[in-house]
Amino acid sequence: MLSINNAVILIVCFQKSKLFVTFTPKCDMINFEALFRISYGLYIVCSGDKNRGNGFISNSVFQVTAEPPKFAVCCNKNNYTAEIIKKCAAFSVSVLHTEASPGLFGRFGYRSGKDFNKLEGINVSYGEATGVPIVLNDSIAFLECNVIQTVDLGTHLLFIGELLHSGIMDETKDPITYMYYRQKRKGVAPKNAPTYVDKSKLETKIQAPAFKKYECTACGYIYDEAIESKKFIDLPPDWVCPSCGTAKEDFIEVAN
Ligand SMILES: Cc1cc2nc3c(=O)[nH]c(=O)nc-3n(C[C@H](O)[C@H](O)[C@H](O)COP(=O)(O)O)c2cc1C
Repeated sequence: MLSINNAVILIVCFQKSKLFVTFTPKCDMINFEALFRISYGLYIVCSGDKNRGNGFISNSVFQVTAEPPKFAVCCNKNNYTAEIIKKCAAFSVSVLHTEASPGLFGRFGYRSGKDFNKLEGINVSYGEATGVPIVLNDSIAFLECNVIQTVDLGTHLLFIGELLHSGIMDETKDPITYMYYRQKRKGVAPKNAPTYVDKSKLETKIQAPAFKKYECTACGYIYDEAIESKKFIDLPPDWVCPSCGTAKEDFIEVAN
């Protein structure tokens, strides 16, 4: 047994009649800023069919084996898309490029298909191998996979899919990374993303009190006057959130 002064605490628990032994790191040993040094891409993961399809923005798509090529997608259980992937046992992945429109992030990353038809008005093709929708807007490549395994991770499901079909739509643009989205486009991942980090856990930055901050109520993007060198009030009325396309009027002032 390890002592509490060591790096880990030994936890023994029973779940569904099975014995689990896990090592939980002590909280004060985790620097959440370090987690942002892990690299990811950004994708739209879709499932369903011509009658009802849906998709969500994911930063957690990655290849897990080469022969045969298999891909993993980590999907929050509350995502509407999780239900659809479970039913269809297939998903598509659209690889987004660096200039992908803010509106696409707003629609697929911060709103749920439980509330509206996300694919309406979107340029979609239906996969030759699986029939699932594939979003073509601002996408440079696609994958089609059928689900061969699902791992329950508690809050999320990890869908493992075997690759059946893939292709390139645009050779000229670069894929967007999560770091590019965060640093250049000032985007933030919402709570359903596996990489979500509560702001209170990050080191606080000292700001000049003369400058204010405004938060996008849809995606959490912060307009920081100290960084932008322009007062929020002086932005034109048709200014929209650069991360998700939400209107200026839907921003609220937040504490520095
Ligand atoms: C940058 C970014 C990354 C995200 N990554 C994931 C992810 O990997 N897994 C996930 O479940 N949700 C992720 N999300 C959140 C979902 O896209 C979001 O909850 C979406 O509204 C779910 O849509 P749905 O309910 O229609 O499926 C991410 C969102 C953003 C903006």
